[in-house]
Amino acid sequence: MKVCIVGASGKLGKYMVQHALDRGYEVVAVCRERSVEKLDDFEGRITVIPGATNDREVIDSAVAGCDGVLVVLVPWGVRDYSSGTAQAVLDYAPPGARLVFSCGWHITRDGKDVYSRKFRWMVGAFSWLARLFRFADIDDQVEACRRVFASDTRWTVVRGSDLEEGESQGLPVWSWHVGDPILESNLTRRVDFALFMVEALQNDQLIHEAPAIVGCRTTSALAHARQD
Ligand SMILES: NC(=O)c1ccc[n+]([C@@H]2O[C@H](COP(=O)([O-])OP(=O)(O)OC[C@H]3O[C@@H](n4cnc5c(N)ncnc54)[C@H](OP(=O)(O)O)[C@@H]3O)[C@@H](O)[C@H]2O)c1
Repeated sequence: MKVCIVGASGKLGKYMVQHALDRGYEVVAVCRERSVEKLDDFEGRITVIPGATNDREVIDSAVAGCDGVLVVLVPWGVRDYSSGTAQAVLDYAPPGARLVFSCGWHITRDGKDVYSRKFRWMVGAFSWLARLFRFADIDDQVEACRRVFASDTRWTVVRGSDLEEGESQGLPVWSWHVGDPILESNLTRRVDFALFMVEALQNDQLIHEAPAIVGCRTTSALAHARQD
């Protein structure tokens, strides 16, 4: 299995690289030129292609021959970074490749997610500040996901809760909609978010789904498990 990890130098990205290597996958990593050194720990074990993740030529060469592509869809900057990254992957990934994209709970696929007032306020405040100071563009991440949802590639969009560092607790549990009781704890270890992304490559039941995930040891996940 050969996988490309787009946005490999970030926290989530590096965990995904490690999980992919643990499974014996061949890894091609894409990250910004200035961040290549963040991948030094993997030197000799992965191929690094430096460049902006929304650079179509970079993505074209990075995904060649890959069976799967894992994409960190970050909204940073105001130059369509998310949608440009998503579009390049959708356009250049080999036909039949599994594509797994990451984003947060704020992305909704069918409008049936139910958000708390606090959550809506936080997202609204972040979007407003991001627009004001031009450091991020949440609307572009929404657009990126809209394009993925409309695509007929073999995609999954993994929607992450709030994240924390810490040792792995195991594969997160998931549900279709934010607001479902199992998700109430709204916390996932970042290493386990990465685990879910890598496991999704081999899980055909997640094709054309946008699972919202939460840590398997959180209060809400454990309460749900007791009910079964
Ligand atoms: N609370 C949360 O943080 C949270 C919650 C839910 C879901 N998520 C999702 O988790 C994913 C990433 O999370 P993370 O915790 O791993 O974040 P992270 O470590 O901060 O990684 C961020 C990524 O963004 C890149 N980046 C940073 N600044 C950039 C810029 N100005 N222009 C372009 N790229 C830039 C980084 O690349 P460099 O290494 O080159 O800087 C890295 O690949 C995203 O898909 C996000 O939507 C996050």
